[in-house]
Amino acid sequence: MGPIVPVLVINKVEDALYIAEALLAADVNVLEVTLRTPVALDVISIIAKELPEAIIGSGTVTNRHQLQQSYDAGAKFAISPGLTKDLLQAGNDGNIALIPGISSISELMDGADYGYDHLKFFPAEASGGIKALKSIGGPFPDIRFCPTGGINLNNVRDYLALPNVVCCGGSWLVSSEIVDNKNWSEITKLAKQALVHVK
Ligand code: 3PG
Repeated sequence: MGPIVPVLVINKVEDALYIAEALLAADVNVLEVTLRTPVALDVISIIAKELPEAIIGSGTVTNRHQLQQSYDAGAKFAISPGLTKDLLQAGNDGNIALIPGISSISELMDGADYGYDHLKFFPAEASGGIKALKSIGGPFPDIRFCPTGGINLNNVRDYLALPNVVCCGGSWLVSSEIVDNKNWSEITKLAKQALVHVK
């Protein structure tokens, strides 16, 4: 994955392909569409169908039902801000890659009990950020993270420099302001800038 995964909140189906194409134009091809809007599943279906070069996933998946809906819509992976035992089990039972979220060691241990070694760290900045991830790497050197929450151009490079971070998620590449103004070229510009910055 990654190294940068845009966290997308898309309110209008008609914006979906413009946003995804703008990101693909910058070589950002792993996209997380959060299930925070009524059209999110439709958006995932459309991107999965129209843009096969995109690796489209769902975000804000909080239960078994949403995991199944994500798969049915064509998502290739699903990300959760947290974890429950039922969701972890559903991830193991189903046929879509699940990345559960953690912000504590005990949650990490629950995830590891179910075989998950790739986890979202959320909300990253509010949960101790880089210092926390460095500390977690001591007792749990084999667990890999995709931190999100408070990550932007100013700190993304420092996160990605950590040995236990494989990618970072964030909404800064596609803000609601950019979408409202239909400023699709700005999305490509910010995404290119971010990739150059982390190289
Ligand atoms: C997420 O859902 O992963 C976060 O809301 C993204 O956080 P950000 O808006 O601080 O990038």
